[in-house]
Amino acid sequence: MQSGVSLIGVGTFVVSMCALGLACTSLSESPSRELNAAFEDAGGPILQPTPSVALCTDNRPTFAYPPEARAIALGETLPNLSFEGEHGNVALKEYFEPCAPRSRLLVIRTSALWCGTCGWHAAHTNAWLGDVALAERITLLDLVVADEDNLPATMPALLRFRKTLSAVGKLAIDPSFTFASVSAAHVPLPAYVIVDTKTMRVITTDTNPSAEALRAKLGIALAQLDGHARPDFPEAKTTDGFTANELDLIRDMGLPGAPPADPTNAYADVPAAAALGKKLFFDAALSPSGRISCATCHDARKGLSDGLPQSEGIATTDRNSPGIALASHARWQFWDGRADTLWMQALGPFENTKEFASSRLFVAHEIQRRYATEYSAVFARYPMPDMSDAARFPPSGTPGSPSWDAMRAEDRAAVTRVFVDVGKAIAAFERTFRATPNALDKYAGGDHSAFTPEQKRGLKVFLTTGCVQCHHGPRLTDDAFHVLRFPTGARGGIADLGRAAGVPLLLASEFTAGKEWSDAPASARSFLGMELPVQTTVGAFKTPTLRALPASGPYGHGGTFFTLADVTKHYGGRGLRENDTRAVGATEAWVPEFDANAARELVPFLETLTGEVED
Ligand code: HEC
Ligand code: HEC
Repeated sequence: MQSGVSLIGVGTFVVSMCALGLACTSLSESPSRELNAAFEDAGGPILQPTPSVALCTDNRPTFAYPPEARAIALGETLPNLSFEGEHGNVALKEYFEPCAPRSRLLVIRTSALWCGTCGWHAAHTNAWLGDVALAERITLLDLVVADEDNLPATMPALLRFRKTLSAVGKLAIDPSFTFASVSAAHVPLPAYVIVDTKTMRVITTDTNPSAEALRAKLGIALAQLDGHARPDFPEAKTTDGFTANELDLIRDMGLPGAPPADPTNAYADVPAAAALGKKLFFDAALSPSGRISCATCHDARKGLSDGLPQSEGIATTDRNSPGIALASHARWQFWDGRADTLWMQALGPFENTKEFASSRLFVAHEIQRRYATEYSAVFARYPMPDMSDAARFPPSGTPGSPSWDAMRAEDRAAVTRVFVDVGKAIAAFERTFRATPNALDKYAGGDHSAFTPEQKRGLKVFLTTGCVQCHHGPRLTDDAFHVLRFPTGARGGIADLGRAAGVPLLLASEFTAGKEWSDAPASARSFLGMELPVQTTVGAFKTPTLRALPASGPYGHGGTFFTLADVTKHYGGRGLRENDTRAVGATEAWVPEFDANAARELVPFLETLTGEVED
């Protein structure tokens, strides 16, 4: 360590490291990449400061921003980046203070609104920033990459994120994830980039650290910048092997209760509607073939799925049937989210030529013929018309078919209303499903004997590799759409566009939450931002719940993975290779890569995620 003024010539530049006679930092000749082994476990090295340009002379900044700014990487001086913020643009140069008596740390944290670990960090910022002594020397800049659905972040999304934050710093959007490449490996969110404000050099990074590890790391970085002896890295405090933030995330995975209210369905919680819906769910006569009902592909003995790679109705479909025990909790329905309510979802299979191959006219006739009394008792608001006149009400038909298009507008509306009510009754039934508690629920409730050591190890890997970013909360899902390059299930191997194909179908449908058939159009989410084709939705699929997982295989939207070990192996390699045409899009930056051991270790935990259905 040196004290007093230290001048080191590097090339043609001169560096003054110490202002006002304060302690100075030792400098090495070349850009130091000294890796500090002690920190490798704690999320990477902390680099020594090694500026090569005189940034402050005679106590005055020599430059408005370091001129040597080159790259967005560990050890490099950051370019003067600028981000769209809450109150105008936020430029990195605002943080540059070459003549400050002591270095401060700019902590740039990248989060997404869908991300469970980011939510924890946002809400617990005070847990590591709360120490005033530390806070005086730390400035936080929060960057948001994406919204709840994983669409690129916008200003309204930023303001929603602000509400979750427990500490105040600047907030800006960064839809292109500028700092993705700072760490050599792909890292789960939230991603921390820590910058010395005297030089604007990235001195360390971290990913989803525990609060105490991050605090310690910041303390060590400051001590090093001040030229003090490096404090020891504290031993992690754990309970049964889990840090405090991991335990919080585990607790959040406890069994879900009743689904959230659905104002778009006035019958959502009407028992008589659910009773009718139950009969309709199992009724194969709503299909002209007499063979297909909802239960064909959502069988309670198979996790409310069908056990097949791709579902088979009248024909074989391209996608895997999801378990639907907790579908009533989901923000979006289908792998591509092309329905925004549960009742809207239920209308899809009837008119899908590969599933029921039925039509709204056919379904309405069946309701009138066999369920008239029950139907009229529940849905009394709009009496069903007499549909016995086959000229006025042909036996089958749906928009686009000649029989339908020739009908009078008010007759079409009357039939569509019956059809919509069928969807609302079935949704009311699905809302009564409850998953039974499993070992995770016991563990989340504090029973540490509920898991074997192998299962705990699997859970630990689930947390540390970042599965919990997306698979979080009671259903272990964020309800968002992600690109993971899972293989398609389509014949011929043609890649499935996922969300990119689902959004136009959603926007075009007459049955969305905001339109006339909804009981509360005003309660619908705004689809603003989805109007334009968004590149990141190509090949994106909805994160499925992991409850009732063991019984609901095969896995993935295409149903191409027969075992859970197949799924975790796929994750370890970050999905299908780029040139494999069975998938489109690029695997998202925050999806980590891991080895075959970790992939194996995950499985015993995933196998605990049972969830038989009670209705
Ligand atoms: C031929 C098999 C088949 C039939 C019949 C069928 N489904 Fe499905 N179901 C599927 C498949 C496959 C998907 C996924 C399709 C997609 O995402 O494009 C699905 C998706 C769903 C979802 C969305 C779950 C989620 O997590 O996104 C729900 C809810 C659902 N079905 C309920 C029903 C109801 C109610 C019926 C009867 C009206 C029904 N299904 C009939 C195969 C079927
Ligand atoms: C970036 C968000 C994200 C991360 C991180 C993530 N998942 Fe997923 N998971 C998804 C999405 C989206 C799918 C559906 C992918 C598809 O079919 O295209 C999925 C599917 C699955 C499935 C198949 C479930 C089924 O019913 O078909 C399993 C099992 C699973 N994930 C486990 C994991 C594990 C274990 C990890 C950690 C190694 C993990 N996930 C990390 C989003 C994520």
